[in-house]
Amino acid sequence: MSAASMAGKTVLITGGNSGIGLVAATALAGMGARVVLACRRSQAAEAAAQQIRAAHPGAGVETVALDLASLESVRRAAREVRERFPVIDVLLNNAGLANVSRETSQDGFELTFATNHLGPFLFTRLLLPAMAPEGRIINVASEAHRMGRMHWDDLQLTDNYWVMRAYAQSKLANILFTRELADQLAGTGIAVSALHPGAVSTSIWPENRWYERAFTRVLKLFLISPEKGARTSIWLASGVEGGKSRGGYFERCKPRQPSARARDKADQTRLWTLSEQLTGLPAFSDKELSA
Ligand SMILES: NC(=O)c1ccc[n+]([C@@H]2O[C@H](COP(=O)([O-])OP(=O)(O)OC[C@H]3O[C@@H](n4cnc5c(N)ncnc54)[C@H](OP(=O)(O)O)[C@@H]3O)[C@@H](O)[C@H]2O)c1
Repeated sequence: MSAASMAGKTVLITGGNSGIGLVAATALAGMGARVVLACRRSQAAEAAAQQIRAAHPGAGVETVALDLASLESVRRAAREVRERFPVIDVLLNNAGLANVSRETSQDGFELTFATNHLGPFLFTRLLLPAMAPEGRIINVASEAHRMGRMHWDDLQLTDNYWVMRAYAQSKLANILFTRELADQLAGTGIAVSALHPGAVSTSIWPENRWYERAFTRVLKLFLISPEKGARTSIWLASGVEGGKSRGGYFERCKPRQPSARARDKADQTRLWTLSEQLTGLPAFSDKELSA
């Protein structure tokens, strides 16, 4: 798949209404892809779709309601996607959050873990049968994974919650998931990758309290633009190399070695099995690909 050949491809982007997801969606629509924005706020999704259509008149842009923090919403969205878009060429799991205070999802999971890992895990698994034979699954992780570890005794971080502890664990989970998914899909043509977009000036940085606003204002002087931050996502979605990745981790359009914890096969498998249990999925089998 080259950039010029995105015409006729369907690209599904979670959180495509803002930040690097919106930039990636706009660029891929400009390359001729039909872009599906899976977003939790329908008004924001429609505004983004209009913005993309204005930038690229005639672009195919659709929206689907998806709240990754709700397993019910994820299941409903996956059903809708499969009905409306039977073949997905690129699934860009881009949505994510960093939550300053500990909150729980409607299913009772810590909100960062629910949104950044469990929701995307379930969404991806439910969409596997719709993936094109040479499709691509791209997970937006972060270099923050290097600060993280899986708190197996307290994954929901009921003790000692703080934002980076939760965020780093969830981004480590993104890479463990990417690698295990690639192992499970070995022998298929589906490419799987994870990436770090850089430290990007987007609305993910907290600005609720005065000191967060002050900190973020200073920080933003050093952050890269969403246009730069989206480059690796766009490259993996549209470039030749992205089609070859089998669990690779990328930054600035180049492969990078993730942390030793992210390469721990036992943890990959443990997280995979646990995530199946927490989301109510049966153990993976090849048959799932054609279900
Ligand atoms: N910015 C950085 O420096 C940086 C660094 C490393 C990795 N990342 C990763 O890059 C990805 C994109 O983030 P961004 O920086 O572009 O931030 P952003 O502008 O805040 O975009 C995050 C997107 O995720 C969506 N989202 C949040 N919770 C959701 C939920 N429950 N269901 C569905 N969508 C949800 C947001 O929707 P709403 O608009 O409705 O909130 C928004 O569209 C994230 O995975 C983030 O972890 C960012």
